[in-house]
This record gives sequence, structure tokens and C-alpha cells, in this order.
Amino acid sequence: MSSSVSVRTDAIEAHAGEVRKLSTLLEVSQALLTERFFRDGLHKALEILGRHHGAVRSMVVLLNERTGDVELEAAAGEIEPGKRVRYRPGEGVTGQVIATGTPVIIPQVSREPSFLHRAAKRQELANSELTYVAAPISIDGQTVGVLGVDLPFKPDRDYQRTTTFLGVVGSMIAQALTVHRLIEADRQQLVDENTHLREELKSRYDFSNLVGTSGPMRRVYEQVAQVARAPTTVLLRGESGTGKELVAHALHYNSPRAKKPFVKVSCAALPQELIESELFGYEKGAFTGAAAQKKGRFELAEGGTLFLDEIGELSQATQVKLLRALQEREFERLGGTETIRVDLRLVAATHKDLEKAIAAGDFRKDLYYRLNVFTIFLPPLRERKPDILLLANHFLDKFSREHGKHVKRISTPAIDMLMAYHWPGNVRELENVMERAVVVCDARVIHAHHLPPTLQTAEASGTSVTATLHDMLEAYERDILQDALKSARGNRAKAARLVGTSERIFNYRVRQYHIDWRRFRP
Ligand SMILES: Nc1ncnc2c1ncn2[C@@H]1O[C@H](COP(=O)(O)OP(=O)(O)OP(=O)(O)O)[C@@H](O)[C@H]1O
Ligand SMILES: [Mg+2]
Repeated sequence: MSSSVSVRTDAIEAHAGEVRKLSTLLEVSQALLTERFFRDGLHKALEILGRHHGAVRSMVVLLNERTGDVELEAAAGEIEPGKRVRYRPGEGVTGQVIATGTPVIIPQVSREPSFLHRAAKRQELANSELTYVAAPISIDGQTVGVLGVDLPFKPDRDYQRTTTFLGVVGSMIAQALTVHRLIEADRQQLVDENTHLREELKSRYDFSNLVGTSGPMRRVYEQVAQVARAPTTVLLRGESGTGKELVAHALHYNSPRAKKPFVKVSCAALPQELIESELFGYEKGAFTGAAAQKKGRFELAEGGTLFLDEIGELSQATQVKLLRALQEREFERLGGTETIRVDLRLVAATHKDLEKAIAAGDFRKDLYYRLNVFTIFLPPLRERKPDILLLANHFLDKFSREHGKHVKRISTPAIDMLMAYHWPGNVRELENVMERAVVVCDARVIHAHHLPPTLQTAEASGTSVTATLHDMLEAYERDILQDALKSARGNRAKAARLVGTSERIFNYRVRQYHIDWRRFRP
């Protein structure tokens, strides 16, 4: 073989080597850019180095900004699986590259006693000689990691070129890492923003179990949102069953006191003689039967919320005691001398007309002013008609679940009745009506005849408590006619056929019940 041929062969090999390096760079950049997760891209890139350049093993370590440790991010080749590699910056070859930002090359690993190479087993290293190249990964002039590659030792290797080549791979990884971190920061910002918005929404409109979107209820939510976080005393007013207790809960659970106790005192349920000892507690021997010291509700509510329900029912004597406790935020247990201070938020509720009670001399004016700091009026149900259907469906779901039934829908006539009724017992009454309807319903639909007699009369005035058999039958018939019209989409002839009667009789009945059949037309 002539020397000119061998020179040509060398040149061709060198050329092929350059082409291989370029195509490797292309593949590496594609791997880094197309993988969804940075670590996957990195792993692919290292595998490419193994395939095209005979890398026995390779790894990327990155500086953990938080701990200052250098941690293994990805590895390929003969690395002990699952092994966690951690260096301190400045330690070993990797540490040196991080500290100086310049590549390090060790032509013959076996001759380097200080070589730490923790990711590899030393025995394996002894089998065949290796060359180790460590290239820096730098972002904005800061070395944030190292690409380390073990290559088979070749005496004639051009170390300079190899180092340059791996340096380029290192800077590609740095580029990809920059992009990845930007995306991650953006994503984190989105997550933060989302959490913030959700919190804000929650504090605005998610008041535990409150259902209703009518204007008056939205005003209630706004007031709750305004005052929940403040320590302000809140007075809840509104007819019986309008949701005062639910709002008291919402105030507590949306306040900074949410994790502290919510203590309720039902002023109407307790005999007046017991109220004081319930509120303030007593010392041992304070009265006959006081066998041990007992804490009152004021003390139990420490740090939390004290809910005084039916405040309008308090006796004059208790009103005086309560006033002092509210003014001074301190009190003594019954039979005790020690003054106890408490930190609590007071929420009071009443369905009574307090102004009238004051005029009649039943309620103290000074106590009224203490309580009337921020008042929320719960509107009666009849003044928020749009909520009736929402609430009815809410209770339908709730009781279907509770009673293991599959009632799914409320028929149009039944809805009409719910809407026409004036609900003197408000939401509580609607809740009871829906529970009863679910219990007596034997199909998937609540019909008018599943509703109680109070709702059955045409006027639904609530004044007549008992309905006659005649009324109930009529309501049932009206219900059937309307359902048929609904199925027949307002076609009276078809509706008549559905219920097995003549069109003439059907029309007669429809007129008799003043049913507007036109509204069933699509
Ligand atoms: N907006 C609402 N959404 C869902 N359920 C409600 C709503 N308002 C009231 N309720 C339900 O109606 C029932 C009565 O409510 P709540 O006990 O809060 O009324 P109240 O105003 O305290 O009545 P009272 O003055 O008779 O004590 C409860 O079972 C409650 O869960
Ligand atoms: Mg109540």
C-alpha cells in the first residue's frame, strides 16, 4: 500500500468523523428540543453519544441552586442503576469543572489516582483503559453543570477536537436547560396565578353549602366576603329557615379563625337559668350540683367564633351579663372571682324584629348597638324566586343520594307549584318538602302529587293547611295533562292519545284547568 493511499484513507476517515459529529449534534439538538421533559431529552442525547461515538458511559450533573450540591440529572451506559451521585462543588474532576468553567480531560483514567468518578465501579474501569472528558454546562457565564463522558482509550485520539465537540454538546444542553427553566418558571407563575384566582373566587363565592344565584343572594355573598376576614361582630337577620346558621358557618370557615372552634349557643333552647352558666361556665360549688369546674361556651370558643343563635330570646338579666362580656371581652365564671379574657369573634342571629322588641322594652338598646355592627339580612325565599328551582334540585340530589333513590327530575307541573307557593318556612320548608317528595316518589320524576297538600291548592296561599281529596285529585289530573302535553310537545291531539282519551275531553279539561297548552310547543 503506497503512502499516498493511506493519506487518502486518513482524510476520508477524518471527513467521515466530521460528518458523524455534525449529524450527532443535529440528533442531540433534536432530542433536547422535542422531548416533553428535559430529563428525557437529556437521556436520549447521552444515548446518542454512546451510539455514534462509542461513549462507554456518560452523565450530566447539575448544580442544585438550593442545596449547593451537584446532582446526577441523567446518565447512560454502564452506570450503577439507581445510584445517587452527589458532589460538593470543588470536589473531584466534576467539582473542578464547575468551579473553573473549563473542560478537563483525563487521557488515561487508570493513571489518575484522584479520579473520583463515583458513578462507575472501579473494577470495571480496570478492565479496559478509558479516557474521561468533562465539559462545562454554562448559562450566562455561570457553570451550572457538567457533561462527563468516558470514551475508550485510543492513543492517537485528537483530544482537542474531542473536547471541543463535547463542549458544543454541553452548550446545547445549556441552551435546552435555559428554555426548560423559562418554561418551568412560566408554568409555575401560571400555577401560582391560578391558585391565587381560585382562592379569590373561593373567598368570594364558595361559601360551603350555600346554594342560590339570585340578586339578593349574591348581595349576601358579597357581604359575607367583605366581613368574613375581619374580627367584626356580625348580626344575621331574616325569617326562620332562610339560612342564617349556614351563613354563620360560612363566616367562620372563611375567616382566619377557620381552624379554631365554632361554638354555637342556642339561646331559645336553653332555660334562662342555665344560659349564664352555659355562656360563662362555673366554679366548683358555685351552686348545688356544681361538682367540678366547668368552662362556658365563651371560653370554649377561644380563638374561634361564638355563634349566639336566637339572640332575641334572651332574658333582661342575661342581656346585661352578655353586654358586659361583649364590651370588656372579659367575664367571670359563675361563683368565681378570676377574670377571664377571651379572644373570639361574635356572630349573632335572630328572626325577631329587634326594633320592635326594643320599643316593647324586651331588648336592651345598648346590647342592640353592640351587636348591630355589621348586619346581613337573609332574604325570604319568596323574594328570590330564581333560587327555588336551584335549591329544589340541590335537595333532590341530596335526598336521592341519602335515600338510595334514583329520582332525577321534577315535572313541569310540580315546578309550577313550587314556584307559586309562598314558602313561609323558607329554605327549611323547601328542604322538607323535597325530602318528603323523594321518599314518596316511586319513579324517576317528582310529580305534583308527590308534593304535600299545602302546595296543592290552586292559590297555594298556605292559609289552608289541609287539602281535600277533590283538590288532590284535581292536582293529579292537572299534572297528568301537563305531562302529556309536554311529551306531545304541545300537540293536543297527540297528548289526548297518550293518556287514552278523546281530543274533545282532553281540550275540555285543559280549558277547565286554565292550562296554557301553547307553552309546551317547541
Ligand atoms: N342558601 C342555601 N343553600 C342550601 N341550603 C340552605 C340555604 N339556606 C338554607 N338552607 C338549608 O335550610 C335549612 C335552614 O337553614 P338555617 O338553619 O341556616 O336557617 P336559619 O335562618 O338559621 O333558621 P332559624 O331562624 O329557624 O334557625 C338548613 O337545613 C340549611 O341547610
Ligand atoms: Mg337557625
